Parts: sequence; C-alpha cells; structure tokens
Amino acid sequence: MPENTRFPESFLWGCATSAYQIEGSPLADGAGPSMWERFAHTPGMMHNDDNGDIACDHYRRFRDDVRLMRDLGLTSYRFSIAWSRILPSGTGAINQKGLDFYRQLVDALLEGGITPMATLYHWDLPEALDDRGGWLNRDCADWFAEYASTCFEALDDRVPRWVTLNEPWVVTDGGYLHGVLAPGHRNPYETARASHNLMRAHGAAVQAYRAVGAHQIGLVVNLEPKYPASESAEDRAATQRADAYMNRQYLDPALKGTYPPEMREIFGDAWPDWPAADFEQIRQPIDFLGINYYTRGLTAHDPSAWPLYARTVRVPQATYTETDWEVHEESFTDILRWVRDRYGDIPLYVTENGAAFYDPPVAADDGVHDPLRIDYLRRHLRAVHTAIKQGADVRGYYLWSLLDNLEWSLGFAKRFGIVHVNYETLERTPKDSAKFYAEVIASHGESLSEPRTK
Ligand code: BGC
Repeated sequence: MPENTRFPESFLWGCATSAYQIEGSPLADGAGPSMWERFAHTPGMMHNDDNGDIACDHYRRFRDDVRLMRDLGLTSYRFSIAWSRILPSGTGAINQKGLDFYRQLVDALLEGGITPMATLYHWDLPEALDDRGGWLNRDCADWFAEYASTCFEALDDRVPRWVTLNEPWVVTDGGYLHGVLAPGHRNPYETARASHNLMRAHGAAVQAYRAVGAHQIGLVVNLEPKYPASESAEDRAATQRADAYMNRQYLDPALKGTYPPEMREIFGDAWPDWPAADFEQIRQPIDFLGINYYTRGLTAHDPSAWPLYARTVRVPQATYTETDWEVHEESFTDILRWVRDRYGDIPLYVTENGAAFYDPPVAADDGVHDPLRIDYLRRHLRAVHTAIKQGADVRGYYLWSLLDNLEWSLGFAKRFGIVHVNYETLERTPKDSAKFYAEVIASHGESLSEPRTK
C-alpha cells in the first residue's frame, strides 16, 4: 500500500516572492530608492548588468498574478513590502500610494481566498538609511520599528501573519562580509555589527507589534544543516563553527537570548561584548518561526577560507541545482526536527523551498517541461511530511518561487519559478511543476505518494 502523505487539514499551501525580485517600477508613485536599486545600477555588481527596473512587472500586473495563484489553488501567499515605497526616506513622511499598492494586493488575495503573509524586510533597505550607516547604525532598530508600525497600522486588519526579517544571515554574509549583495561591503567588524543590529531591529519590531497588532509575528531564517565531511577533529570543529555561523547565530539570540560561543572564535576581536540590555530587546516572544531550506553543507576544515576556516565539500554522484546546491531532502527533515529539539515546540512554517534548474524553452505545446524541479519538490514535500510525522509542528509550506525572478546579483539567469516568465514580453507560462504543485494542493499532499512516473 502506498504511504499516506496527506497533510494536516489546516496546513497552508503557498508560494513566496519578494518585492525587489518581482515588482519592477521601484521608483513609481513616490517611492524612494533602496540600496538594491543603487547596488544593481553599480557597474560590475550584477550578472549581465540585470536590475529590478522591470523584473516581472508585478507592480502593474499583480491582479493577473493573483489570478495565477488562484488557478494553482494556493491558500496562502508570502510577499515582502518594499520599505522605501512606504517611507521613501526610510523614516518620516509616509507615501500613501505605497501603502495603497500593498492594500490592493492584500485585498485581491483575500478576495481570492488566499491568506497573506507579509515580510517587512527582504533586503531592500532605503538608500537614505544606508547613507546614514544602514544596519551599522544602532538607530536602525528605531527606524525599523517606525516603518513596521506604519505597516501594522495600515494592514494588520487584513494580514494575519507578519515576518520581521528575511534571512539575516544572507543580509550580513553576502552584504557585509563578502560584498556580493547590497550594500557590497567586505568587513568582518561591520558584519558582526550589522548582524547584531538586525536582531535588535527584529526585537524592536516585535515589541512594536505587541502594541498595535492583533495577530501573529515571527522571524524567517535560512537553515543549512552541517555535517562533517570526515571524522577528523578538524572537520568536526569546522562543522561546529559553520553550524553556529549559519544556523544558531540568529536563532539563539532570538529564542534563548545568547549568542553561540563560536561567534567569538570565528570573528575574534570583531565580535564585541554586546550590552546585556540588547538581549532583552532581541529575545521577544514570537508566534512562529519561518524556515527557508535549500540544501545541506557537508563541511571540511579549510585554512584558506577566512574567517570561518570551513568550506562545503562537493559530493560525487549527488544532484546539484543550477545554483550549485546539493539536493538532499533528508537534511530538510533533520533540520525541522533539530529546531523542535533545540528550541521547543514553536509553530513552524517552511517559508521558502525550491530550486533553480535549467528549463528548456517554452515548448510547441505551450508547456515548460521541468522534471528536475518536480523531482526536487516531490522529495522535499515528502521530507516535510516525514518531519510532521516525527513531531515537528509545521503548519504551512511556501514554495520559492511563484515566478521566475531576479535572483539578486545572479540576475535573471537562474530561474526558480514554477511559472515561467518571458522577460521580453513578460508573458507568464505555468511550468509542469506548477501543475504538479496544483495537484499536490488539491489532494492535500496525497498525490505525493503516487509513483514517480508522472
Ligand atoms: C532568498 C530569496 C532567494 C532564494 C534563492 C533565499 O535566500 O530569500 O530571495 O531568491 O533564497 O536563492
């Protein structure tokens, strides 16, 4: 008998996107520039000089996109709000037209029976605040709370779930240590400070929510389980550091009020003794945790890989995605269980999971045949189901991503969507994976137990 893969009745089935990656028209209707606007227009920073000026043109086509979501049967949708559409200078004057855009989007979702989940920060800090030091300035916690309160006041009557930050690790590792994402800095002293200030901002936004909000608020982290590449003491120690850096650096302060001891080992004197009061601000009770999972990391000691002295090892015979991430769904189950074991019974949402693969062009039959993505999704959805059976309280799954979109500095070349976007005509074509996901949703997961020939 095939295994029962039916998900709990109240489980939410969603897709996730973010503002700069899909909206286009970043300066329309009074919006201010963000640091991504500046980064993407700096020569040499983006693959193929791509930028978010048009992206998927979702800003103007959002009603069509909501229709697509309805056709798929989505019951929820996770999107992000562009801070500089709401407060063009980051603080101060409110741009009503920016709020109107998100209100219209949320209304269209609700009319379609789709529950919104809104992320406040998916990496697009207003340029005006970056000019004032951005995440390096301790005032950023107040700036973020002001912006967050503006959004809560305008939209909490119809948005039941809020996310403060998306993936603080990527913001700091890519933006402040390796310089491959906005704002493009390379400085460990800055990295430590930006990390800590992001968490203070998270805490400040949660505090602000408790004053005005009536629903739920949480944090989204990207987790990558780390396993030693060998049994050597060096590889095991490298694995501990990599795990602390990527997985515990944000969850420990948010949920336990401390940093992992390895942070000092990794950053040396760039990791200061933070004021004790900061931890009280950071450790605010949250209603749920969002987990983004893409891959695992088989980890080896590497003396050249400063400052972590650890690197991810390539696994022979494994399948890799177009972004060079190993496909390893068992680790997804592991990490969901690990979160429950380490941090207790907090409700979880998978807020991102998906893959970029090379897609053939739109076929004569008007389809896009993407069997590798279907295989990835099937494996990972089953892994979530297994985690639930093992006791992880996972309440929803948001596939990354609804549409092909701007994969940050990798430009439009890497396609994560289950809906193909023709960047010349902006036409949307559901891929085979969209049909697969629609069937999963319609059967509440039961179709996942069918043989893999489909
Ligand atoms: C981010 C997305 C990104 C995706 C794929 C996540 O790190 O939240 O914005 O497109 O992964 O790389």
